[in-house]
Amino acid sequence: MSNRYNLLAPEARNDPYPLYAEMRESAPVCQIEPGGLWAVSRYDDVAAVLSDSAVFSSAGLREATRPSWLGHNPVADSLALMDPPVHTKLRALVSRAFSSRVVPRVEPLVRAAARRFADSIVTGQPIEVQEHFSSEIPGVAIAELLGLDPSLRRLFFSWSEALFSIHPATPPEHHERIRAVISDIETYLREVLADRRRSRRDDLVSDLLDAEVDGERLSEAELISFLAIILQGGHDTVASLLASSLRCLAGRPDLLALLRAEPTAIPAFVEEMLRFDPPLQGSPRLTVSDTELSGVPLPRGSVVLALIGSANRDDRRMKDPDRIDLSRKRNAGLTFGLGAHFCIGAALSLAEGRLALEELLPRIQGLRTHERGSAWSASLFSRNQTFLWMEFDRARG
Ligand code: HEM
Repeated sequence: MSNRYNLLAPEARNDPYPLYAEMRESAPVCQIEPGGLWAVSRYDDVAAVLSDSAVFSSAGLREATRPSWLGHNPVADSLALMDPPVHTKLRALVSRAFSSRVVPRVEPLVRAAARRFADSIVTGQPIEVQEHFSSEIPGVAIAELLGLDPSLRRLFFSWSEALFSIHPATPPEHHERIRAVISDIETYLREVLADRRRSRRDDLVSDLLDAEVDGERLSEAELISFLAIILQGGHDTVASLLASSLRCLAGRPDLLALLRAEPTAIPAFVEEMLRFDPPLQGSPRLTVSDTELSGVPLPRGSVVLALIGSANRDDRRMKDPDRIDLSRKRNAGLTFGLGAHFCIGAALSLAEGRLALEELLPRIQGLRTHERGSAWSASLFSRNQTFLWMEFDRARG
């Protein structure tokens, strides 16, 4: 039996941080389960992996994101799996459309969705938070942003989860469902694009169709790949942020009281939660030459997992990293990545977290996890729960 660390073991899914601390100390660059990936756990090494595309390539992983059991995968052709200079061109094109208009566009709907959830709370009655709150918020935001049918938002969320479960060791029992999801996503996005080609609307899909840099536009395949990665990256991550914020507040009534008394502290809380328990725990790269990190040689062709979740708790980089500290100098660690691939949705995510909590927290005065429990999703990269039962006390008045 292998004595490698296993990031998908139940105790690691439940709380990976003690394991990361051990790895940073004793094995900062080591092979792990599943799949024998090389995990990198210290801040400086994670930062190097994320930002040095000349050695740690994203494009090198394209084949891994369309393994033989899957075949075609539009996400494999998205900018997330490109290196400069191809990445640079695509990023410039999509950035045109992904402008500062994004947050004001979604704000009223996000606030309304959070208020609806708060109004549905009955004191002492258990409620499943993922479906009714944490995935609902990004679902509403993405549907509005892309001009998609909002009644399909639960379906979009299940697509996001399925896409995140593609990794080098995806269990065979998930293969068929993932293949079906990919086919559904492509069919759906083709219809959406055809509709917007016929008549433009005030949405990101229309803006993407019109985006132009140096006379070049996005092709149909590039559009589908970008929209697929937005559907993947924009749901599960924000849902994770909201779920972990509520789990945290359930154990910290003092913090809930503080945020209710001082709502201006909510943005700092959101940022600190993103550092403390980041939705994307790791991002993979492929080494395109022999290299070394923390004195450990990494041969060319190694799949490296940059452990963002670990980097954000590295006391070589920040003081008292296992403590939630709202006065910490604004610093989301490496939560949104570093360098060329820095998350395009970072400002949107911070806004979704802030807006949702600004609406919810004044309307509740207590919350607890409920005995119906919770379950972690099967992803090696994202840290999210498939369900999470909680109980709330409505605020009086
Ligand atoms: C709290 C929520 C989020 C977190 C923690 C997060 C995290 C990240 C990280 C770490 C990366 C870089 C990955 C790498 O270097 O390999 C990334 C890239 C990306 N994210 Fe996010 N993300 C979030 C929300 C969003 C949202 C809301 C959207 C879109 C609506 C989005 C779209 C993207 C895209 C398209 C990329 C690829 C950018 C590129 O390759 O140039 N993300 N995200």
